[in-house]
Amino acid sequence: MLKGQEIVKNRRETIQALNQAAAAELQAAFRYLFLSHYATGFHGQQVAEKFAAMAKEEWEHTSELMERIVQLGGTPFQKLSEAEKLSFSRTPPPPKNPTDWKKMVKDSLQGERDAIEFYRKLMKVVHDDPVTNHLIRETLEDEVKDEHDLAGLLE
Ligand SMILES: [Fe+2]
Ligand SMILES: [Fe+2]
Repeated sequence: MLKGQEIVKNRRETIQALNQAAAAELQAAFRYLFLSHYATGFHGQQVAEKFAAMAKEEWEHTSELMERIVQLGGTPFQKLSEAEKLSFSRTPPPPKNPTDWKKMVKDSLQGERDAIEFYRKLMKVVHDDPVTNHLIRETLEDEVKDEHDLAGLLE
């Protein structure tokens, strides 16, 4: 076993949690990408730009989480169909009306809050593992910013 894996006490639990996170991030990336093209109307355009930026960011989170899973000696989930079961977040389907940007933003806020809650708890699980801790802290910072920006769109 690698030294970098040996120093992580609850490796199994960490890998499992990182897989749940990677699944949620992948779903969020897809959802935001979809919304960035789906949202229309005067305000919808502005909101679509934020969704496009977040899609890229959540995709990056997915990648970083998968990288860490492999470093720890784990295997990231391999099928898209697994992501739904693994994900820590359940966001509702997009509104029927593509001009209903408010509903899109409100549902997205819920997703970001689920992420903030999950990562906050995960920080405790990985407090002994500085590498994962650093990754989760940075990811959490991004989600806090997302929540703040999304909330701002509703003002
Ligand atoms: Fe994320
Ligand atoms: Fe986010």
